[in-house]
Amino acid sequence: MSKHLGEWKECYELGIEDIDLQHHFFFNLINRLANELLQAKDVQFRMDLINELNAYAKFHFISEENMMRKYEYPDFLHHRNLHIELIGQLSTKENMLILVDENAEADAVILFLGEWFQDHTRNIDRKFADYLLEMETADCMQQPKEKSITTEN
Ligand SMILES: [Fe+2]
Repeated sequence: MSKHLGEWKECYELGIEDIDLQHHFFFNLINRLANELLQAKDVQFRMDLINELNAYAKFHFISEENMMRKYEYPDFLHHRNLHIELIGQLSTKENMLILVDENAEADAVILFLGEWFQDHTRNIDRKFADYLLEMETADCMQQPKEKSITTEN
């Protein structure tokens, strides 16, 4: 059925293994939900499908935020607020799904998630990944200097 996200694209890769793995899972989850949500007739099942996504989104966000804390990311609060905002929006969508038992509503949820994922990953998460990669490069540049000091000693 409908697969709003299509296939995984290389431009979603940020170059940070842990984040990329989780994003890939998140991406597949949205696609699976797109199929199952449209076919699920049972309201409880529809709610549980959204719950599954909600739980994973929370896990993934905490994981990203812990990484931001660890590496003292300067834009941490702004990024975290965007995560909180999505969780809130998901709860609203979840309520809509319970109240409006129509496929159009499920389709809107998936469309919203797909757009959110692409926008957030390619813009907001990209900034954090670039910050991490810059730190890594800076760290790498320092190593030969330290090494030469130790060999001289
Ligand atoms: Fe993020």
